[in-house]
Amino acid sequence: MKRSASELALMRRAGKVTAAMLEAVTEAVRPGVSTAALDAVARAVLEREGARSNFLGYHGYPAVICTSRNDIIVHGIPREDEILEEGDILSIDAGAIVEGYHGDAAVTVPVGEVSKAASRLIEVTRQALWAGIETMRPGTHLHEIGRAVERVARRHHYGVVREYVGHGIGTEMHELPNVPNYWPGNPGPTMRAGETFAVEPMFTLGTERTRVLADGWSVATADGAWAAHFEHTIAVTEDGPEVLTLGSQGC
Ligand code: MF3
Ligand code: CO
Repeated sequence: MKRSASELALMRRAGKVTAAMLEAVTEAVRPGVSTAALDAVARAVLEREGARSNFLGYHGYPAVICTSRNDIIVHGIPREDEILEEGDILSIDAGAIVEGYHGDAAVTVPVGEVSKAASRLIEVTRQALWAGIETMRPGTHLHEIGRAVERVARRHHYGVVREYVGHGIGTEMHELPNVPNYWPGNPGPTMRAGETFAVEPMFTLGTERTRVLADGWSVATADGAWAAHFEHTIAVTEDGPEVLTLGSQGC
């Protein structure tokens, strides 16, 4: 859906709050910290910024961020009894609502020193998100995003998760159309200036198949391989993509 200039201004604010949550949580990640403590850090940012959570209460979701460790791809629930260890990788997904408009973004970070394979997975997934973002111009077909994302994964022989995808975003966190991270066999609609999307590649060191754990939320790789997830909320503009959830480090 096309957004007006004033709507985009609110999405910029929601994006900034989302980025601030991710930065504060990333800063707090270290061995010995519980994922519940990270949720508390994100809640404090929402409160300070006077923003609301789009995660809390979403289909009953109990936290303001998702914390997905190692073989968990997305939707891990923060817990008091989940303590980060050196060598883990942690995906953090955060979002915020400002005056009815949504931001949604995610990063994967290393906990202390991690293996070469894990840090390469993280860096390549980040690169793939940016390769997807670079296609986002008026007149380009939406599924070019996934084609660009998938190309990066294939070069590194990573699994590309297909069962979860990016999405339109605006007055709801999840709006149509879907934004797959692969070429779905057709080009999809063309992108237009003023449209806003959440692009979110999920790559794995093994299979692309997933399973939901007994908590009803956590999505794990079917084979236990580790996974990385990056996401930004982006507006298509006449000048190209505007990343609304950019952090102060510019990534
Ligand atoms: N923000 C996630 C996404 O990237 C969805 C979070 S689901 C929730 O689409 F239940 F945790 F909110
Ligand atoms: Co999303």
